[in-house]
Amino acid sequence: MASNAVTPRLASDRSGQAARHVAIIMDGNGRWAKKRMLPRVAGHKAGVDAVRRTARAAWDMGIECLTLYAFSSENWKRPEQEIIDLTGLLKHFIRSDLDEFHANGVRLRIIGDYHAFEPGAVRMIDEALARTSANRKSTLVIALNYGAQDELARAARILAQQAVRGEIDPATIAPGHISALLDTTGLPPLDLLIRTSGEQRLSNFLLWQAAYAELYFTDTLWPDFDERSLAEALDDFRARERRFGGL
Ligand code: FPP
Repeated sequence: MASNAVTPRLASDRSGQAARHVAIIMDGNGRWAKKRMLPRVAGHKAGVDAVRRTARAAWDMGIECLTLYAFSSENWKRPEQEIIDLTGLLKHFIRSDLDEFHANGVRLRIIGDYHAFEPGAVRMIDEALARTSANRKSTLVIALNYGAQDELARAARILAQQAVRGEIDPATIAPGHISALLDTTGLPPLDLLIRTSGEQRLSNFLLWQAAYAELYFTDTLWPDFDERSLAEALDDFRARERRFGGL
């Protein structure tokens, strides 16, 4: 066995504090490629390998829900070729990995408006969502064309429309009304939010859902992230004292 192999450990062992929902801002693909004098797309390809490794590790560790920030609503500002490359990698990932995920009881969910992608990608995503929708063991959430401010604005718009129609009294609007209208509705509360590559910001990711999440920043570039990195993040999480505003 390789010396760096890790023994799978459940997300809930030791103190009993279980991380049901882990989200990751996968950052550093470009820098990983640059360090090797490779084109950026090589970093994204290695990033897909890290997605596969991390998703497998997450379900081995009993994590119910893994949410990955694959494409933000701001990423459209990137060069057209990079957007084409990322879309191609996503399609390839669905083609090559969906069977395994499905066999392991993994349900796929998307947050963000993926209909902005090219029709071939939208069709593949729709098929993957339909095929895995009844799976209950764990959920892999991919954020595509996702931005938290846009998600919150959409929820506010719906509530305002309901108020105008007299269906809801604005004075009764509570956090639960907003949560129910977010793309993440029905998912477990977010426990742990990881960002790789040394940057320490949320970049418009899960701003509402992160209200009581533990934040974990690592210098590891996303393509180097593996089961050991995830285990370290979960060890750190278990050592945190979560008070949710109480004492
Ligand atoms: C950030 O690195 C990474 C992205 C914007 C894309 C993440 C996408 C993948 C890992 C591959 C596709 C995903 C799936 C689910 C198949 P960066 O390019 O901003 O890196 P840099 O900051 O070092 O330039």
